Amino acid sequence: MSLVKSDVLIIGSGVAGLSCAIKISENRPDLNITIVSKTHLTETNTSWAQGGVATVWDFEADSFDLHVADTLDAGDGLCDEKIVRIVVEEGHDRVKELIQWGADFSKSETGNYDLAKEGGHSRNRILHYKDVTGAEIQRALTAKVLTLPNIQLFEHYYAINLLTEHHLGKNVTRLTPGIRCFGAYIMDKENKDIETFLAKTTVLATGGAGQIYRNTTNPTVATGDGIAMFYRAKGHIANMEFIQFHPTALYNPSGEKPDFLVSEAVRGFGGILKTSDGKTFMEKYDDRLSLAPRDIVARAIDNEMKLRGEEFVLLDCTHLDKEKFYNHFPNIYDKCVSIGIDPMVDMIPVVPACHYTCGGILTDENGETSIGQLYAAGECTNTGLHGANRLASNSLLEGLVFGNRIAENISKTIDEINIQSGIPHWKNLGTTEPQEQILITQSIRELKDIMSYYVGIVRSDVRISRALDRLYLLYKETEMLYIENKLSPQLCELRNLITIGYLVTAAAGMRKESRGLHYTTDFPEKARFIENTYM
Ligand code: FAD
Ligand code: SIN
Repeated sequence: MSLVKSDVLIIGSGVAGLSCAIKISENRPDLNITIVSKTHLTETNTSWAQGGVATVWDFEADSFDLHVADTLDAGDGLCDEKIVRIVVEEGHDRVKELIQWGADFSKSETGNYDLAKEGGHSRNRILHYKDVTGAEIQRALTAKVLTLPNIQLFEHYYAINLLTEHHLGKNVTRLTPGIRCFGAYIMDKENKDIETFLAKTTVLATGGAGQIYRNTTNPTVATGDGIAMFYRAKGHIANMEFIQFHPTALYNPSGEKPDFLVSEAVRGFGGILKTSDGKTFMEKYDDRLSLAPRDIVARAIDNEMKLRGEEFVLLDCTHLDKEKFYNHFPNIYDKCVSIGIDPMVDMIPVVPACHYTCGGILTDENGETSIGQLYAAGECTNTGLHGANRLASNSLLEGLVFGNRIAENISKTIDEINIQSGIPHWKNLGTTEPQEQILITQSIRELKDIMSYYVGIVRSDVRISRALDRLYLLYKETEMLYIENKLSPQLCELRNLITIGYLVTAAAGMRKESRGLHYTTDFPEKARFIENTYM
Protein backbone atom coordinates (compact mmCIF):
# COMPACT_ATOMS: atom_id res chain seq x y z
CA MET A 1 0.00 0.00 0.00
CA SER A 2 2.20 2.85 -1.08
CA LEU A 3 1.54 6.53 -0.94
CA VAL A 4 2.49 8.94 -3.72
CA LYS A 5 2.35 12.67 -2.96
CA SER A 6 2.53 15.43 -5.56
CA ASP A 7 1.52 19.02 -6.02
CA VAL A 8 -0.46 18.24 -9.17
CA LEU A 9 -1.88 14.88 -10.21
CA ILE A 10 -2.87 14.66 -13.88
CA ILE A 11 -4.85 11.59 -14.91
CA GLY A 12 -4.47 11.14 -18.67
CA SER A 13 -1.64 11.54 -21.16
CA GLY A 14 -3.40 12.77 -24.32
CA VAL A 15 -3.29 16.29 -25.73
CA ALA A 16 -5.14 17.78 -22.74
CA GLY A 17 -3.11 16.10 -19.98
CA LEU A 18 0.33 16.50 -21.54
CA SER A 19 -0.12 20.10 -22.69
CA CYS A 20 -1.40 21.03 -19.22
CA ALA A 21 1.60 19.31 -17.57
CA ILE A 22 4.08 21.11 -19.85
CA LYS A 23 2.56 24.52 -19.10
CA ILE A 24 2.50 23.95 -15.33
CA SER A 25 6.08 22.71 -15.47
CA GLU A 26 7.17 25.81 -17.41
CA ASN A 27 5.20 28.25 -15.21
CA ARG A 28 6.23 26.64 -11.93
CA PRO A 29 9.43 24.58 -12.06
CA ASP A 30 9.20 24.33 -8.24
CA LEU A 31 6.06 22.12 -8.37
CA ASN A 32 6.14 18.37 -8.77
CA ILE A 33 3.70 17.00 -11.30
CA THR A 34 2.53 13.41 -11.65
CA ILE A 35 1.01 12.06 -14.86
CA VAL A 36 -0.85 8.76 -14.79
CA SER A 37 -1.84 6.79 -17.85
CA LYS A 38 -3.72 3.52 -17.81
CA THR A 39 -1.65 1.90 -20.55
CA HIS A 40 1.31 3.20 -22.51
CA LEU A 41 1.72 6.99 -22.44
CA THR A 42 0.93 7.29 -26.14
CA GLU A 43 -2.11 5.00 -26.21
CA THR A 44 -4.71 7.77 -26.38
CA ASN A 45 -7.49 9.03 -28.65
CA THR A 46 -5.10 11.87 -29.42
CA SER A 47 -2.69 9.48 -31.16
CA TRP A 48 -5.44 8.40 -33.56
CA ALA A 49 -6.54 11.87 -34.69
CA GLN A 50 -6.35 12.17 -38.44
CA GLY A 51 -7.83 15.35 -39.91
CA GLY A 52 -6.00 17.96 -37.84
CA VAL A 53 -6.41 21.04 -35.64
CA ALA A 54 -8.86 23.75 -36.66
CA THR A 55 -7.50 27.24 -36.14
CA VAL A 56 -7.63 30.49 -38.06
CA TRP A 57 -4.28 30.80 -39.83
CA ASP A 58 -4.87 32.74 -43.05
CA PHE A 59 -6.23 36.04 -41.69
CA GLU A 60 -6.93 37.39 -45.19
CA ALA A 61 -9.33 34.62 -46.14
CA ASP A 62 -10.55 33.72 -42.67
CA SER A 63 -11.33 35.31 -39.30
CA PHE A 64 -12.03 34.39 -35.69
CA ASP A 65 -15.62 35.53 -36.25
CA LEU A 66 -16.09 33.00 -39.05
CA HIS A 67 -14.64 30.15 -36.97
CA VAL A 68 -16.90 31.16 -34.07
CA ALA A 69 -19.94 31.27 -36.40
CA ASP A 70 -19.19 27.81 -37.85
CA THR A 71 -18.76 26.33 -34.36
CA LEU A 72 -22.05 27.86 -33.17
CA ASP A 73 -23.84 26.64 -36.27
CA ALA A 74 -22.60 23.05 -35.85
CA GLY A 75 -23.45 23.17 -32.11
CA ASP A 76 -27.12 23.74 -33.00
CA GLY A 77 -28.00 26.29 -30.34
CA LEU A 78 -26.31 24.75 -27.31
CA CYS A 79 -22.75 26.18 -27.48
CA ASP A 80 -21.69 28.76 -24.92
CA GLU A 81 -20.60 31.62 -27.18
CA LYS A 82 -18.19 33.02 -24.61
CA ILE A 83 -16.34 29.69 -24.44
CA VAL A 84 -16.38 29.31 -28.22
CA ARG A 85 -14.72 32.72 -28.59
CA ILE A 86 -12.11 31.89 -25.94
CA VAL A 87 -11.16 28.62 -27.65
CA VAL A 88 -11.12 30.09 -31.16
CA GLU A 89 -9.09 33.18 -30.20
CA GLU A 90 -6.64 31.57 -27.76
CA GLY A 91 -6.35 28.45 -29.93
CA HIS A 92 -4.21 30.24 -32.49
CA ASP A 93 -1.46 30.95 -29.93
CA ARG A 94 -1.71 27.46 -28.49
CA VAL A 95 -1.10 25.93 -31.92
CA LYS A 96 1.90 28.24 -32.40
CA GLU A 97 3.20 27.02 -29.04
CA LEU A 98 2.70 23.41 -30.13
CA ILE A 99 4.83 24.12 -33.18
CA GLN A 100 7.52 25.63 -30.92
CA TRP A 101 7.44 22.43 -28.86
CA GLY A 102 8.31 20.52 -32.02
CA ALA A 103 5.05 19.48 -33.70
CA ASP A 104 5.28 19.38 -37.47
CA PHE A 105 2.43 20.29 -39.82
CA SER A 106 2.26 19.68 -43.58
CA LYS A 107 3.09 22.55 -45.92
CA SER A 108 1.92 23.19 -49.48
CA GLU A 109 4.20 23.91 -52.48
CA THR A 110 4.13 27.62 -51.50
CA GLY A 111 5.92 26.80 -48.24
CA ASN A 112 2.91 27.88 -46.17
CA TYR A 113 0.97 25.51 -43.98
CA ASP A 114 -1.48 23.47 -46.03
CA LEU A 115 -4.92 24.37 -44.67
CA ALA A 116 -7.49 21.62 -45.16
CA LYS A 117 -11.27 21.75 -44.95
CA GLU A 118 -13.76 19.54 -43.12
CA GLY A 119 -17.53 19.37 -42.66
CA GLY A 120 -19.20 22.52 -41.29
CA HIS A 121 -16.14 24.77 -41.89
CA SER A 122 -16.77 27.71 -44.21
CA ARG A 123 -13.02 28.19 -44.79
CA ASN A 124 -9.89 26.08 -45.10
CA ARG A 125 -8.43 26.22 -41.60
CA ILE A 126 -7.32 22.71 -40.57
CA LEU A 127 -3.60 22.36 -39.89
CA HIS A 128 -2.62 18.75 -40.34
CA TYR A 129 0.34 16.45 -40.55
CA LYS A 130 -0.61 14.29 -43.58
CA ASP A 131 -3.48 12.14 -42.22
CA VAL A 132 -1.76 11.24 -38.94
CA THR A 133 -1.92 14.60 -37.13
CA GLY A 134 -2.70 13.08 -33.73
CA ALA A 135 0.28 10.75 -33.78
CA GLU A 136 2.54 13.73 -34.59
CA ILE A 137 1.06 15.87 -31.80
CA GLN A 138 1.33 13.00 -29.32
CA ARG A 139 4.96 12.45 -30.39
CA ALA A 140 5.89 16.09 -29.94
CA LEU A 141 4.15 16.45 -26.56
CA THR A 142 5.61 13.20 -25.24
CA ALA A 143 9.13 14.21 -26.30
CA LYS A 144 8.71 17.59 -24.59
CA VAL A 145 7.36 16.06 -21.37
CA LEU A 146 10.33 13.69 -21.20
CA THR A 147 12.70 16.69 -21.05
CA LEU A 148 10.99 18.23 -17.99
CA PRO A 149 12.55 17.15 -14.69
CA ASN A 150 9.60 18.05 -12.44
CA ILE A 151 7.21 15.65 -14.22
CA GLN A 152 6.97 12.05 -13.04
CA LEU A 153 5.24 9.47 -15.22
CA PHE A 154 3.25 6.43 -14.09
CA GLU A 155 2.38 4.28 -17.10
CA HIS A 156 0.06 1.25 -16.77
CA TYR A 157 -1.51 2.76 -13.65
CA TYR A 158 -5.30 2.64 -13.54
CA ALA A 159 -7.24 5.32 -11.62
CA ILE A 160 -10.20 3.78 -9.81
CA ASN A 161 -11.83 6.47 -7.67
CA LEU A 162 -11.35 10.12 -6.76
CA LEU A 163 -10.67 10.97 -3.12
CA THR A 164 -13.07 13.45 -1.50
CA GLU A 165 -14.58 14.24 1.91
CA HIS A 166 -16.42 10.92 1.51
CA HIS A 167 -13.08 9.25 2.33
CA LEU A 168 -12.86 11.29 5.54
CA GLY A 169 -16.14 9.70 6.67
CA LYS A 170 -18.48 12.52 5.64
CA ASN A 171 -21.78 11.99 3.87
CA VAL A 172 -21.44 13.51 0.41
CA THR A 173 -24.34 13.93 -2.06
CA ARG A 174 -24.65 15.73 -5.37
CA LEU A 175 -26.09 18.68 -3.43
CA THR A 176 -23.33 18.88 -0.81
CA PRO A 177 -21.60 22.25 -1.20
CA GLY A 178 -17.82 22.62 -1.14
CA ILE A 179 -16.76 19.03 -1.91
CA ARG A 180 -12.99 18.92 -2.54
CA CYS A 181 -10.75 16.39 -4.25
CA PHE A 182 -7.57 15.15 -2.54
CA GLY A 183 -6.24 12.84 -5.28
CA ALA A 184 -7.21 9.31 -6.33
CA TYR A 185 -6.90 5.61 -5.62
CA ILE A 186 -4.85 4.20 -8.46
CA MET A 187 -3.97 0.59 -9.30
CA ASP A 188 -0.49 -0.48 -10.36
CA LYS A 189 -1.60 -2.85 -13.10
CA GLU A 190 1.53 -4.95 -12.83
CA ASN A 191 1.00 -6.16 -9.27
CA LYS A 192 -2.66 -5.06 -8.80
CA ASP A 193 -1.73 -2.99 -5.71
CA ILE A 194 -4.07 -0.05 -5.16
CA GLU A 195 -2.02 2.96 -4.14
CA THR A 196 -3.10 6.29 -2.67
CA PHE A 197 -2.07 9.24 -4.83
CA LEU A 198 -2.50 12.42 -2.80
CA ALA A 199 -2.29 15.80 -4.51
CA LYS A 200 -3.03 19.43 -3.79
CA THR A 201 -4.81 19.65 -7.13
CA THR A 202 -6.02 16.97 -9.52
CA VAL A 203 -6.73 17.26 -13.26
CA LEU A 204 -8.94 14.77 -15.09
CA ALA A 205 -7.86 14.44 -18.73
CA THR A 206 -9.18 10.92 -19.24
CA GLY A 207 -10.74 11.29 -22.70
CA GLY A 208 -14.02 10.04 -24.11
CA ALA A 209 -16.21 6.96 -23.95
CA GLY A 210 -16.58 5.61 -27.50
CA GLN A 211 -16.25 2.05 -26.21
CA ILE A 212 -19.90 2.02 -25.08
CA TYR A 213 -20.81 1.29 -28.73
CA ARG A 214 -20.08 -1.76 -30.86
CA ASN A 215 -18.72 0.29 -33.76
CA THR A 216 -16.37 3.04 -32.73
CA THR A 217 -13.29 4.77 -34.05
CA ASN A 218 -12.03 5.09 -30.45
CA PRO A 219 -9.22 2.87 -29.14
CA THR A 220 -9.93 0.50 -26.24
CA VAL A 221 -8.76 3.04 -23.62
CA ALA A 222 -11.84 5.21 -24.30
CA THR A 223 -14.09 3.78 -21.58
CA GLY A 224 -15.20 7.04 -19.97
CA ASP A 225 -13.42 6.30 -16.66
CA GLY A 226 -12.94 9.96 -15.71
CA ILE A 227 -16.58 10.90 -16.27
CA ALA A 228 -17.76 7.84 -14.34
CA MET A 229 -15.33 8.46 -11.44
CA PHE A 230 -16.40 12.08 -11.28
CA TYR A 231 -20.09 11.11 -11.29
CA ARG A 232 -19.48 8.63 -8.44
CA ALA A 233 -17.71 11.44 -6.55
CA LYS A 234 -21.00 13.41 -6.90
CA GLY A 235 -19.75 15.94 -9.45
CA HIS A 236 -21.96 17.64 -12.03
CA ILE A 237 -22.18 16.26 -15.58
CA ALA A 238 -23.92 17.81 -18.61
CA ASN A 239 -25.20 16.99 -22.09
CA MET A 240 -24.24 13.30 -22.20
CA GLU A 241 -26.90 12.51 -24.83
CA PHE A 242 -24.76 14.18 -27.50
CA ILE A 243 -22.64 11.31 -28.78
CA GLN A 244 -21.08 12.09 -32.13
CA PHE A 245 -21.12 9.43 -34.84
CA HIS A 246 -18.49 10.05 -37.50
CA PRO A 247 -20.12 9.56 -40.91
CA THR A 248 -17.25 7.72 -42.56
CA ALA A 249 -15.57 4.82 -40.81
CA LEU A 250 -14.20 2.23 -43.22
CA TYR A 251 -16.64 -0.66 -43.72
CA ASN A 252 -14.46 -3.66 -43.06
CA PRO A 253 -16.27 -7.04 -43.08
CA SER A 254 -13.35 -8.57 -41.13
CA GLY A 255 -14.79 -6.89 -38.01
CA GLU A 256 -11.51 -5.16 -37.19
CA LYS A 257 -11.65 -3.05 -33.99
CA PRO A 258 -11.52 -0.11 -33.53
CA ASP A 259 -13.19 0.92 -36.76
CA PHE A 260 -10.67 2.61 -39.06
CA LEU A 261 -11.53 6.24 -39.78
CA VAL A 262 -11.66 7.71 -43.27
CA SER A 263 -11.03 11.32 -42.34
CA GLU A 264 -13.59 14.01 -43.09
CA ALA A 265 -10.68 15.82 -44.74
CA VAL A 266 -11.07 13.30 -47.59
CA ARG A 267 -14.46 14.86 -48.30
CA GLY A 268 -12.86 18.30 -47.81
CA PHE A 269 -10.38 17.23 -50.51
CA GLY A 270 -13.19 16.40 -52.95
CA GLY A 271 -14.46 12.91 -51.99
CA ILE A 272 -18.20 12.52 -52.68
CA LEU A 273 -20.71 10.30 -50.89
CA LYS A 274 -22.77 8.00 -53.11
CA THR A 275 -25.12 5.04 -52.78
CA SER A 276 -24.25 1.60 -54.21
CA ASP A 277 -25.79 2.52 -57.59
CA GLY A 278 -23.27 5.37 -57.89
CA LYS A 279 -25.82 8.15 -57.23
CA THR A 280 -25.22 11.12 -54.92
CA PHE A 281 -27.77 11.57 -52.12
CA MET A 282 -26.61 14.42 -49.85
CA GLU A 283 -28.55 16.98 -51.95
CA LYS A 284 -31.70 15.54 -50.33
CA TYR A 285 -30.43 16.52 -46.87
CA ASP A 286 -28.30 19.68 -46.90
CA ASP A 287 -27.01 22.34 -49.30
CA ARG A 288 -23.49 21.74 -48.07
CA LEU A 289 -23.75 18.20 -49.51
CA SER A 290 -20.98 15.82 -48.36
CA LEU A 291 -19.45 18.62 -46.26
CA ALA A 292 -22.47 19.36 -44.06
CA PRO A 293 -21.84 19.07 -40.29
CA ARG A 294 -21.41 15.54 -38.99
CA ASP A 295 -24.77 15.06 -37.31
CA ILE A 296 -26.53 15.76 -40.62
CA VAL A 297 -24.25 13.58 -42.77
CA ALA A 298 -24.25 10.63 -40.33
CA ARG A 299 -28.06 10.71 -40.10
CA ALA A 300 -28.38 10.96 -43.87
CA ILE A 301 -26.11 7.92 -44.36
CA ASP A 302 -28.00 5.98 -41.68
CA ASN A 303 -31.27 6.79 -43.44
CA GLU A 304 -30.00 5.80 -46.89
CA MET A 305 -28.66 2.50 -45.53
CA LYS A 306 -32.02 1.75 -43.89
CA LEU A 307 -34.03 2.75 -46.99
CA ARG A 308 -31.93 0.53 -49.24
CA GLY A 309 -31.27 -2.28 -46.77
CA GLU A 310 -27.53 -1.88 -47.33
CA GLU A 311 -24.64 -2.10 -44.90
CA PHE A 312 -22.62 0.85 -46.17
CA VAL A 313 -22.53 3.77 -48.59
CA LEU A 314 -19.62 4.70 -50.83
CA LEU A 315 -17.07 7.48 -50.80
CA ASP A 316 -16.02 8.27 -54.34
CA CYS A 317 -12.43 9.56 -54.68
CA THR A 318 -11.77 8.03 -58.09
CA HIS A 319 -11.80 11.46 -59.79
CA LEU A 320 -9.07 12.88 -57.53
CA ASP A 321 -5.38 13.35 -58.35
CA LYS A 322 -3.56 10.24 -57.17
CA GLU A 323 -0.26 11.88 -56.22
CA LYS A 324 -1.90 14.69 -54.27
CA PHE A 325 -4.29 12.25 -52.60
CA TYR A 326 -1.43 9.97 -51.55
CA ASN A 327 0.65 12.90 -50.24
CA HIS A 328 -2.20 14.05 -47.99
CA PHE A 329 -3.68 10.65 -47.04
CA PRO A 330 -0.94 8.00 -47.14
CA ASN A 331 -2.30 6.20 -44.09
CA ILE A 332 -5.87 6.00 -45.44
CA TYR A 333 -4.67 5.03 -48.91
CA ASP A 334 -2.46 2.22 -47.58
CA LYS A 335 -5.20 0.95 -45.28
CA CYS A 336 -7.74 0.77 -48.12
CA VAL A 337 -5.25 -1.01 -50.36
CA SER A 338 -4.51 -3.50 -47.55
CA ILE A 339 -8.14 -4.68 -47.70
CA GLY A 340 -8.28 -4.75 -51.49
CA ILE A 341 -9.69 -1.30 -52.23
CA ASP A 342 -7.71 1.08 -54.41
CA PRO A 343 -9.28 4.50 -53.65
CA MET A 344 -8.27 5.76 -57.09
CA VAL A 345 -10.12 2.92 -58.82
CA ASP A 346 -12.76 1.69 -56.34
CA MET A 347 -15.21 3.68 -54.25
CA ILE A 348 -14.50 3.29 -50.50
CA PRO A 349 -17.29 1.58 -48.49
CA VAL A 350 -18.04 3.64 -45.37
CA VAL A 351 -20.43 3.51 -42.36
CA PRO A 352 -21.06 5.83 -39.41
CA ALA A 353 -19.32 4.86 -36.15
CA CYS A 354 -19.33 6.33 -32.66
CA HIS A 355 -16.53 8.87 -32.54
CA TYR A 356 -16.75 11.57 -29.88
CA THR A 357 -18.36 12.26 -26.47
CA CYS A 358 -19.61 15.87 -26.66
CA GLY A 359 -20.96 16.07 -23.10
CA GLY A 360 -19.17 15.24 -19.88
CA ILE A 361 -17.76 16.86 -16.77
CA LEU A 362 -19.20 20.35 -16.49
CA THR A 363 -16.43 22.95 -16.28
CA ASP A 364 -16.20 26.73 -16.20
CA GLU A 365 -13.93 28.86 -18.40
CA ASN A 366 -10.90 27.92 -16.29
CA GLY A 367 -11.53 24.18 -16.39
CA GLU A 368 -12.78 24.16 -12.78
CA THR A 369 -15.39 21.52 -11.98
CA SER A 370 -18.14 21.41 -9.35
CA ILE A 371 -15.63 19.67 -7.02
CA GLY A 372 -12.98 21.93 -5.49
CA GLN A 373 -9.28 21.30 -6.25
CA LEU A 374 -10.37 19.26 -9.27
CA TYR A 375 -10.08 20.44 -12.86
CA ALA A 376 -10.98 18.67 -16.11
CA ALA A 377 -9.85 19.14 -19.71
CA GLY A 378 -10.29 17.52 -23.11
CA GLU A 379 -12.87 15.03 -24.30
CA CYS A 380 -14.05 14.10 -20.79
CA THR A 381 -15.52 17.60 -20.34
CA ASN A 382 -18.51 19.68 -21.25
CA THR A 383 -16.94 23.14 -21.49
CA GLY A 384 -19.69 24.65 -23.65
CA LEU A 385 -17.59 24.61 -26.83
CA HIS A 386 -19.34 21.81 -28.71
CA GLY A 387 -22.99 22.23 -27.73
CA ALA A 388 -25.19 19.64 -29.41
CA ASN A 389 -22.60 18.66 -32.05
CA ARG A 390 -18.83 19.20 -32.22
CA LEU A 391 -17.41 20.96 -35.24
CA ALA A 392 -14.70 18.82 -36.86
CA SER A 393 -11.15 19.28 -35.58
CA ASN A 394 -12.18 21.54 -32.71
CA SER A 395 -11.34 18.94 -30.11
CA LEU A 396 -7.54 18.93 -30.17
CA LEU A 397 -7.83 22.73 -30.03
CA GLU A 398 -10.09 22.57 -26.96
CA GLY A 399 -7.61 20.25 -25.20
CA LEU A 400 -4.76 22.71 -25.81
CA VAL A 401 -6.71 25.80 -24.74
CA PHE A 402 -8.13 24.30 -21.56
CA GLY A 403 -4.87 22.51 -20.73
CA ASN A 404 -3.26 25.97 -20.75
CA ARG A 405 -6.06 27.73 -18.84
CA ILE A 406 -5.97 25.09 -16.10
CA ALA A 407 -2.17 25.39 -15.89
CA GLU A 408 -2.45 29.18 -15.48
CA ASN A 409 -5.06 28.79 -12.77
CA ILE A 410 -3.20 26.09 -10.86
CA SER A 411 0.05 28.05 -10.98
CA LYS A 412 -1.68 30.99 -9.28
CA THR A 413 -3.78 29.16 -6.68
CA ILE A 414 -1.87 26.07 -5.62
CA ASP A 415 0.15 27.73 -2.87
CA GLU A 416 -3.02 28.16 -0.82
CA ILE A 417 -3.70 24.40 -0.78
CA ASN A 418 -2.22 21.69 1.46
CA ILE A 419 -2.07 17.95 0.92
CA GLN A 420 -4.96 16.38 2.86
CA SER A 421 -4.14 14.14 5.80
CA GLY A 422 -6.28 11.33 7.21
CA ILE A 423 -7.17 9.59 3.94
CA PRO A 424 -7.26 5.83 4.60
CA HIS A 425 -5.60 3.28 2.34
CA TRP A 426 -7.84 1.42 -0.09
CA LYS A 427 -9.88 -1.40 1.48
CA ASN A 428 -10.54 -4.37 -0.76
CA LEU A 429 -14.21 -5.32 -0.69
CA GLY A 430 -13.99 -8.54 -2.64
CA THR A 431 -11.58 -11.33 -1.85
CA THR A 432 -12.39 -13.91 -4.54
CA GLU A 433 -10.11 -14.19 -7.56
CA PRO A 434 -12.34 -13.59 -10.59
CA GLN A 435 -12.70 -17.13 -11.99
CA GLU A 436 -14.86 -16.19 -14.89
CA GLN A 437 -13.44 -13.40 -16.99
CA ILE A 438 -16.11 -14.36 -19.52
CA LEU A 439 -18.77 -12.73 -17.30
CA ILE A 440 -17.03 -9.38 -17.73
CA THR A 441 -16.44 -9.70 -21.47
CA GLN A 442 -19.99 -10.91 -22.08
CA SER A 443 -21.43 -7.98 -20.07
CA ILE A 444 -19.33 -5.51 -22.08
CA ARG A 445 -20.68 -7.10 -25.26
CA GLU A 446 -24.26 -6.78 -23.95
CA LEU A 447 -23.72 -3.16 -23.02
CA LYS A 448 -22.43 -2.34 -26.50
CA ASP A 449 -25.45 -4.10 -28.05
CA ILE A 450 -27.90 -2.21 -25.84
CA MET A 451 -26.35 1.15 -26.67
CA SER A 452 -26.03 0.37 -30.40
CA TYR A 453 -29.58 -0.96 -30.84
CA TYR A 454 -31.45 1.46 -28.62
CA VAL A 455 -29.42 4.65 -28.12
CA GLY A 456 -27.69 5.07 -31.50
CA ILE A 457 -28.14 7.67 -34.23
CA VAL A 458 -31.96 7.44 -34.14
CA ARG A 459 -33.70 7.13 -30.78
CA SER A 460 -37.25 6.88 -29.42
CA ASP A 461 -38.93 6.77 -26.01
CA VAL A 462 -39.54 3.00 -26.30
CA ARG A 463 -35.91 2.32 -27.20
CA ILE A 464 -34.64 4.53 -24.38
CA SER A 465 -36.91 2.87 -21.86
CA ARG A 466 -35.80 -0.62 -23.01
CA ALA A 467 -32.17 0.45 -22.74
CA LEU A 468 -32.67 1.74 -19.19
CA ASP A 469 -34.31 -1.55 -18.08
CA ARG A 470 -31.52 -3.64 -19.54
CA LEU A 471 -28.78 -1.35 -18.22
CA TYR A 472 -30.24 -1.67 -14.73
CA LEU A 473 -29.92 -5.47 -14.88
CA LEU A 474 -26.31 -5.18 -16.02
CA TYR A 475 -25.66 -2.65 -13.27
CA LYS A 476 -26.99 -4.97 -10.54
CA GLU A 477 -25.00 -7.97 -11.81
CA THR A 478 -21.84 -5.90 -12.07
CA GLU A 479 -22.18 -4.43 -8.58
CA MET A 480 -22.27 -8.03 -7.25
CA LEU A 481 -19.12 -8.86 -9.20
CA TYR A 482 -17.51 -5.68 -7.83
CA ILE A 483 -18.38 -6.55 -4.22
CA GLU A 484 -17.37 -10.21 -4.36
CA ASN A 485 -14.28 -10.23 -6.56
CA LYS A 486 -10.80 -8.79 -6.31
CA LEU A 487 -10.61 -5.68 -8.42
CA SER A 488 -9.27 -5.76 -11.94
CA PRO A 489 -9.04 -2.92 -14.48
CA GLN A 490 -11.46 -4.88 -16.71
CA LEU A 491 -14.09 -5.02 -13.98
CA CYS A 492 -13.62 -1.31 -13.25
CA GLU A 493 -13.95 -0.51 -16.95
CA LEU A 494 -17.16 -2.53 -17.19
CA ARG A 495 -18.57 -0.64 -14.21
CA ASN A 496 -17.60 2.69 -15.78
CA LEU A 497 -19.00 1.76 -19.19
CA ILE A 498 -22.34 0.90 -17.59
CA THR A 499 -22.34 4.24 -15.75
CA ILE A 500 -21.65 6.08 -19.01
CA GLY A 501 -24.31 4.05 -20.83
CA TYR A 502 -26.76 5.05 -18.12
CA LEU A 503 -25.78 8.75 -18.28
CA VAL A 504 -26.13 8.86 -22.10
CA THR A 505 -29.47 7.04 -22.04
CA ALA A 506 -30.94 9.00 -19.12
CA ALA A 507 -29.91 12.31 -20.71
CA ALA A 508 -31.40 11.16 -24.04
CA GLY A 509 -34.66 10.42 -22.22
CA MET A 510 -34.66 13.89 -20.64
CA ARG A 511 -34.32 15.71 -23.98
CA LYS A 512 -37.86 15.93 -25.39
CA GLU A 513 -36.77 17.33 -28.77
CA SER A 514 -34.36 16.57 -31.62
CA ARG A 515 -31.28 18.73 -31.72
CA GLY A 516 -27.76 18.27 -33.06
CA LEU A 517 -26.64 14.71 -32.43
CA HIS A 518 -29.77 13.73 -30.52
CA TYR A 519 -32.58 12.64 -32.84
CA THR A 520 -35.72 10.98 -31.49
CA THR A 521 -38.70 9.89 -33.58
CA ASP A 522 -41.04 10.87 -30.71
CA PHE A 523 -39.94 14.53 -30.80
CA PRO A 524 -38.55 15.13 -34.30
CA GLU A 525 -38.58 18.94 -34.00
CA LYS A 526 -36.47 21.37 -31.98
CA ALA A 527 -38.07 22.68 -28.80
CA ARG A 528 -38.48 26.45 -28.42
CA PHE A 529 -36.68 26.60 -25.10
CA ILE A 530 -33.24 25.08 -25.06
CA GLU A 531 -31.65 23.66 -21.96
CA ASN A 532 -28.61 21.62 -21.07
CA THR A 533 -29.27 18.26 -19.42
CA TYR A 534 -27.52 18.23 -16.04
CA MET A 535 -26.91 15.19 -13.86
P1 FAD B 1 -7.11 11.15 -24.84
O1 FAD B 1 -6.16 11.56 -25.88
O2 FAD B 1 -8.09 10.10 -25.20
O3 FAD B 1 -6.27 10.64 -23.59
C1 FAD B 1 -6.92 10.00 -22.50
C2 FAD B 1 -5.88 9.59 -21.49
O4 FAD B 1 -6.52 9.25 -20.27
C3 FAD B 1 -5.06 8.38 -21.89
O5 FAD B 1 -3.72 8.62 -21.53
C4 FAD B 1 -5.59 7.25 -20.99
O6 FAD B 1 -4.65 6.28 -20.65
C5 FAD B 1 -5.94 8.06 -19.75
N1 FAD B 1 -6.93 7.40 -18.90
C6 FAD B 1 -8.24 7.19 -19.15
N2 FAD B 1 -8.80 6.54 -18.10
C7 FAD B 1 -7.82 6.36 -17.19
C8 FAD B 1 -7.77 5.73 -15.91
N3 FAD B 1 -8.84 5.14 -15.35
N4 FAD B 1 -6.59 5.71 -15.26
C9 FAD B 1 -5.47 6.27 -15.81
N5 FAD B 1 -5.47 6.87 -17.01
C10 FAD B 1 -6.62 6.91 -17.69
N6 FAD B 1 -10.04 15.62 -32.97
C11 FAD B 1 -9.59 16.69 -33.66
O7 FAD B 1 -9.64 17.83 -33.16
N7 FAD B 1 -9.07 16.53 -34.90
C12 FAD B 1 -8.98 15.32 -35.50
O8 FAD B 1 -8.48 15.20 -36.60
C13 FAD B 1 -9.47 14.19 -34.81
N8 FAD B 1 -9.44 12.96 -35.38
C14 FAD B 1 -9.81 11.88 -34.64
C15 FAD B 1 -9.68 10.60 -35.18
C16 FAD B 1 -9.96 9.49 -34.44
C17 FAD B 1 -9.82 8.12 -35.04
C18 FAD B 1 -10.40 9.64 -33.11
C19 FAD B 1 -10.70 8.43 -32.26
C20 FAD B 1 -10.56 10.91 -32.56
C21 FAD B 1 -10.28 12.03 -33.32
N9 FAD B 1 -10.41 13.31 -32.79
C22 FAD B 1 -9.98 14.38 -33.50
C23 FAD B 1 -10.82 13.51 -31.42
C24 FAD B 1 -9.58 13.76 -30.55
O9 FAD B 1 -8.55 12.91 -30.96
C25 FAD B 1 -9.86 13.53 -29.08
O10 FAD B 1 -11.06 14.12 -28.71
C26 FAD B 1 -8.75 14.12 -28.24
O11 FAD B 1 -7.52 13.66 -28.69
C27 FAD B 1 -8.96 13.74 -26.78
O12 FAD B 1 -7.82 14.12 -26.06
P2 FAD B 1 -7.80 13.95 -24.49
O13 FAD B 1 -6.47 14.43 -24.04
O14 FAD B 1 -9.00 14.53 -23.90
O15 FAD B 1 -7.92 12.37 -24.24
C1 SIN C 1 -11.46 13.38 -39.10
O1 SIN C 1 -10.30 13.40 -39.50
O2 SIN C 1 -12.44 13.23 -39.82
C2 SIN C 1 -11.69 13.51 -37.64
C3 SIN C 1 -11.71 14.92 -37.26
C4 SIN C 1 -12.35 15.11 -35.93
O3 SIN C 1 -12.91 14.18 -35.36
O4 SIN C 1 -12.30 16.24 -35.44
